[in-house]
Amino acid sequence: MVNVAMDGPVGAGKSSVARECARRLGFIYVDTGALYRSCALFCINKGVEISADSEAAIAEVLEKELTLTIDLIDGEQHVYVNGEDVSDKIRTLEISKAASAISALPAVRKYLLDTQRSIAANNNVIMDGRDIGTVILPNADLKIFITAKPEIRAKRRFDELVAKGSNVTLGEVLVEVNRRDYNDTHRKEAPLKQAEDAILIDTSDIDFEETVSGITDLIMAKYETLG
Ligand code: DC
Repeated sequence: MVNVAMDGPVGAGKSSVARECARRLGFIYVDTGALYRSCALFCINKGVEISADSEAAIAEVLEKELTLTIDLIDGEQHVYVNGEDVSDKIRTLEISKAASAISALPAVRKYLLDTQRSIAANNNVIMDGRDIGTVILPNADLKIFITAKPEIRAKRRFDELVAKGSNVTLGEVLVEVNRRDYNDTHRKEAPLKQAEDAILIDTSDIDFEETVSGITDLIMAKYETLG
């Protein structure tokens, strides 16, 4: 199996790039952020507060009451909370904030560790997240760290949200991007950081096609070496 770890901050273009590379190569694309978002949605719906003080209660409710599954439909990842497809519900600003908070809790990261590793053990995957190259798949065959300037990432996220009918402002999204960058890179547990052996790609000044074809070539070269 070929495992590709793709990490980077919010809005760097990771998920669209990873999804398209996986489509071209026939690999499975795994969006691990969706797993944290689903845990956050589940806790909100259960009325369980998301904070460090309620970590034990969160761990208990996840272990005992949540069955989280993913499926691929036409190459798109769908995520299910106890059988309900929540793929659209998890894409709101409220859930983005809650996912950032819940992902800082060690018990939640532990809860999701095996799910992520077992998908990678059985498939050729491109796994997109924050700690894939550093924690989840430290022996990944190829590690890519994608980033871009915060203003550019905020604009991309803003365009996505507006396309979905949201009426946020660009300023609000930039504040949110900066806040999440801060949380994701400063948390104690598995902070967002480039693995030492990851290849850094800054997409501020390169377009989507150039990014995708560059990464696809890197993966193909690796794939051929591995036979
Ligand atoms: O990639 P995303 O925006 O859907 O991620 C949602 C939140 O989950 C984000 O604040 C960081 C966190 N996350 C994480 O801590 N580790 C991952 N592997 C993926 C996401």
